Amino acid sequence: MSMQTKVWKKSDNTEEMKEAIREAAELLHQEQVVAFPTETVYGLGADASNPSAVQRIFEAKGRPSDNPLIVHVADRKQVEQLVDEIPTMARKLMETFWPGPLTLIMKSNGSAAGNVTAGLTTIAIRMPDHPLALALLRASETPLAAPSANRSGRPSPTTAEHVYQDLDGRIAGILDGGPTGVGVESTVLDCTSEIPVILRPGGVTKEDLETILPTVMMDPAMINEQHRPKSPGMKYTHYAPEAPLWLIDGDDEFFENQVEKLKEENFRIGIIASEELLNKLDHNRIISCGSRENLEQVAERLYGALREFKESDVDVILCEAFPETGVGAAVMNRLNKAAVKKVTAY
Ligand code: TXA
Ligand code: MG
Repeated sequence: MSMQTKVWKKSDNTEEMKEAIREAAELLHQEQVVAFPTETVYGLGADASNPSAVQRIFEAKGRPSDNPLIVHVADRKQVEQLVDEIPTMARKLMETFWPGPLTLIMKSNGSAAGNVTAGLTTIAIRMPDHPLALALLRASETPLAAPSANRSGRPSPTTAEHVYQDLDGRIAGILDGGPTGVGVESTVLDCTSEIPVILRPGGVTKEDLETILPTVMMDPAMINEQHRPKSPGMKYTHYAPEAPLWLIDGDDEFFENQVEKLKEENFRIGIIASEELLNKLDHNRIISCGSRENLEQVAERLYGALREFKESDVDVILCEAFPETGVGAAVMNRLNKAAVKKVTAY
């Protein structure tokens, strides 16, 4: 698989961006796949009604075919094309959180291509909150199936450059919209049961959802690894940096001790840490995720940090554990999956 990947550079010139959108939509009509920015991470889009276009997503990413895709829509009408009935709960959530980082699982009416839902009877739908994503959806006049635009198993892309690193030569184009804002993917919420269930924590937090819904459950598979996850994608290795990641769960002194111990054993260490911890460490390979008091900032920087350390430079990456409140739940969900080892003081 090798093709010319066109990059439409980010531009302040609206005419130029309009032309880029027009060209990207044209490629989507020709069954090609195109990467575009959303408010969470970059997505890799294809016409959700066209199985051969959707097949190209799986090929470009190297994604297992039993892992279903999220369908992105520009408006409510496109949701009605994909499901027979919108549950009242889902309707309320759309009014409050759309456009935004919330994906709703509903019963599919079977009109999306079969490989979008990987044969499931349900379908995942969201309306992204990004002007370029919405413009592309309108111009292509079809819902777009779009997973994160990384090679399967790698950290999700939060810049056009990350997409290029992973998919140059494998996709038709990349729309550059600059760095994404939220930094972690959307929350996936199953609305097919009476009590909605969070299958993947993300940009809309459990606390946010509880302002609208009386009860929200966490998928037991996220808490207890004995359960089979209901979201097929949650069972695969994910978000892995090049070097092995160790998640260090303890106070700052505990973290410092881990660093010292590994240094004595001549490990080359990379560190991902908060500003607070970083100020206490004397080490030259450190990437800051921002303040631990500002978990939105940590989420925004997380995937960039995971991509920063190269295999050739470090033997191990030590990463601080963050509080699991608010968007911290999504950050820790990703870090737990990215880590090959957890070192805990408790
Ligand atoms: O923020 C996001 O959600 C990004 C941007 C591009 O929109 N997209 C994204 O897609 O993260 P992806 O494919 O990387 O993750 C989709 C997740 C997977 O865990 C998948 O298994 C789950 O959603 N999913 C999709 N359809 C589902 C369904 N019908 N039932 C349960 N889980 C589903
Ligand atoms: Mg993904």
